[in-house]
Amino acid sequence: MTNAVEHAHTSILGRVFDLSKRAVVLTGGTGNLGPSVARAYLAQGAHVAAAVRDVAKGERLRAALADLAGDRDDPGLVVIAADPADRAAMDRLVEEVVRRWGRLDIVANLVGGYATSSAADGDLGAYRGSWDQKVATAVTATAACLRPMRARGHGRVVSVASMAALKGEKGAAGYAMANAALVRWTESLAEELKRDGVTANTVLPRIIDTPQNRAALPKADPRSWASPDEIAAVVVFLSSDEASGVTGAAIPVVART
Ligand SMILES: NC(=O)c1ccc[n+]([C@@H]2O[C@H](COP(=O)([O-])OP(=O)(O)OC[C@H]3O[C@@H](n4cnc5c(N)ncnc54)[C@H](OP(=O)(O)O)[C@@H]3O)[C@@H](O)[C@H]2O)c1
Repeated sequence: MTNAVEHAHTSILGRVFDLSKRAVVLTGGTGNLGPSVARAYLAQGAHVAAAVRDVAKGERLRAALADLAGDRDDPGLVVIAADPADRAAMDRLVEEVVRRWGRLDIVANLVGGYATSSAADGDLGAYRGSWDQKVATAVTATAACLRPMRARGHGRVVSVASMAALKGEKGAAGYAMANAALVRWTESLAEELKRDGVTANTVLPRIIDTPQNRAALPKADPRSWASPDEIAAVVVFLSSDEASGVTGAAIPVVART
């Protein structure tokens, strides 16, 4: 199976928004969705710093986006080793971004992953795993990014959660709980930041057309699923100046399901 990172995606989004003066911190960029989101940002002219825990995967992401990633002297995309849940590492990354591009405007939190866990068994270990993966990463990465955003009076926080945030699913209690927590935290953040020029929103896919999902669900029709580019388009819209009126929203992107 080809890793999505190795695909040179073509974004469905042309140059719609002007993000040429914007710098983005992206977490979870090495997953299935990450390359499409990074490509969509780069296509709008943004500068992107991907926080990765696996530098080799980060370099593959850069290679997949070579046509837009710039060169070593003037990179549009930089890959920085940093665990999004490690505040000190994220503070260092934010300093590097501000030193390099003079600003930080957007944080896109993509880290996550489906995990099974029983509701009836009270499977706390699994619930904590989903919490650490989904909530701790987004909360910590965002907190580190907020300082320069608030200082400039402009910022965008966009986190990819899941439709499971809105309704619990059989056999995936911890996953649903973590996604629900991310949505509630985002709403609280949006309320706190209303006078700071910073918006905070979540995007809720149900199922994304990824190689893993195609392999796991061979009888399903992937055309009914949201494509990574369809999710990326909403992430980029929420990151734009034009989305200044949208905050505290949880936006389903369920495509044709
Ligand atoms: N795929 C779907 O059908 C679907 C549906 C609904 C919602 N979503 C959500 O959409 C987002 C992107 O999905 P995806 O399909 O791109 O996921 P994915 O392919 O599994 O990629 C997950 C990304 O998160 C990173 N990551 C995972 N656990 C981490 C941790 N504990 N600390 C730091 N980084 C971690 C991975 O890094 P490594 O590369 O280092 O592993 C990778 O970059 C996720 O939040 C997911 O929950 C996906």
